[in-house]
Amino acid sequence: MLKPDAVKRRLAGEVIGRFEKRGLKILAAKMMVINKELAETHYGEHAEKPFFKDLVDYITSGPVLATVIEGEECISMIRKMVGATNPQEADMGTIRGDYAIDTGRNIIHASDAPDSAKREISLFFDESEICEYVLPD
Ligand code: CMP
Repeated sequence: MLKPDAVKRRLAGEVIGRFEKRGLKILAAKMMVINKELAETHYGEHAEKPFFKDLVDYITSGPVLATVIEGEECISMIRKMVGATNPQEADMGTIRGDYAIDTGRNIIHASDAPDSAKREISLFFDESEICEYVLPD
């Protein structure tokens, strides 16, 4: 999910382009403003953290681009490409290392495991919105 800072700074195409160029496949993409309830459900695992309210306020503060991306070892690949949560710790060349401003405005959220990807996808998309297609060789 590209966060409001990515959309407002017009970096969405740049970030999606990195995934496409790496050979990953975009199965769905939806621009939306998340409501508080969806934000709290999506980030439920952080409910007890001190930054939870700020996180929910931030993610609901503007449009996000929710996506479904598929590929070989896609979760670990994307997390490698995204870089560390705190941009001060993110390597140069990663998405956050190159573009993120701070730990809140860190451009992108990427699912951390197959189970969380499944859960998160189902929060944002109906099955009918996820496109299946074959890439050329
Ligand atoms: P994300 O990958 O979307 O998952 C949880 C988000 O919480 C994280 O990126 C950060 O943007 C945000 N966050 C804000 N403060 C912190 C913090 N102190 N530690 C970790 N995540 C934080």
